[in-house]
Amino acid sequence: MKISLVKTTSPKEKPDQNKLGFGRFFTDHMFIMDYSEDKGWHDARIVPYGPLEMDPATAVLHYGQAVFEGMKAYRSPEGKVLLFRPEQNMARLNRSNARMSIPQFDEEFALSAIKKLVTVDQDWIPSAPGTALYLRPFVIGCDNVLGVRASSTYKFMVILSPVGSYYKEGLNPVNIWVEPHYVRAVRGGTGYAKAAGNYAGSLLAQKQAQAKGYSQVLWLDGLERKYVEEVGAMNVFFNIDGELITPDLGDSVLPGITRDSVLKLLDSWSIPTTERKLSVEEIFAAQEEGRLIEAFGCGTAAVISPIGKLGWGDKAIQIGGGKIGEISQRLYDTITGIQNGRLEDPFGWIVEVES
Ligand code: PLP
Ligand code: COI
Repeated sequence: MKISLVKTTSPKEKPDQNKLGFGRFFTDHMFIMDYSEDKGWHDARIVPYGPLEMDPATAVLHYGQAVFEGMKAYRSPEGKVLLFRPEQNMARLNRSNARMSIPQFDEEFALSAIKKLVTVDQDWIPSAPGTALYLRPFVIGCDNVLGVRASSTYKFMVILSPVGSYYKEGLNPVNIWVEPHYVRAVRGGTGYAKAAGNYAGSLLAQKQAQAKGYSQVLWLDGLERKYVEEVGAMNVFFNIDGELITPDLGDSVLPGITRDSVLKLLDSWSIPTTERKLSVEEIFAAQEEGRLIEAFGCGTAAVISPIGKLGWGDKAIQIGGGKIGEISQRLYDTITGIQNGRLEDPFGWIVEVES
């Protein structure tokens, strides 16, 4: 399939690289392709960034048939444009599609479209430390009918946003609230998919946690509300006695690409890792016994984010003395170093965008 290109005639002014925040600025162009049952995915195009016109009955507005991805493009010191394990995002987007009854797309083609879009807007890739161009592919159901059923028409789109750190804390530890009541996902649900509705359902708990002075919620399993699953936009690791423990992946946890990269890096450093059920009780007991060394979340937007205070009911612990842990720092330095081309890439994770 060919990708047509219509360039903007009014390029926007670029934002100050030191004041990007997360997801507030958007580049000059976006990618769109449409799906219909008779044509399949068709009409792939890069066009000026702008609003979509939609019928008020459009399916996604009512029943939330929507999935998305989060990835980043980096500028290397030699000026190359780099992506980090992008084929993993394409594969996960198709798994999310399958769960939400959205048709599959050609992953190689979609990646070539993303590369082309990034090339068109490459002047938007920021180069200040801790910044990147965030890529947001997403798919939405577009039928105009109120019956509850899978759409027969869709749009696959990609928008780009130059970003700084996801949390205002940057690399300083974030405070996390263990959510005792609301749950994010259950067995058989949509937790493993990057489905828009998973995030809508998480907002109330996050708002309540923020009112208590916490940045994010740590979700527990939907059945017993006993075992740790993940944070709003990150998978989590706990260093207990030098062993890095992360919840195992059932169908209620998002299989993070950063999580997988962290596991592979730790293995390569001969640091023991375990994927298993981990209860909050065990975490709090380990802290009491002086065995909880550090904890961090990881994700594309958040990179590596140390966990400082962990609140649970009427208890709260301060992990790692409120400072970033040694392994968290080493992981942050290594992952960002590989991503922005400053460190060697022994795993073959980096994909260069030829421009
Ligand atoms: N968990 C959730 C709920 C997320 O939204 C994300 C972000 O994508 C992650 C974990 C981390 O996944 P990844 O490392 O692939 O970005
Ligand atoms: C990401 O890390 O890419 C995410 O999608 C997290 C969040 C912004 C939803």
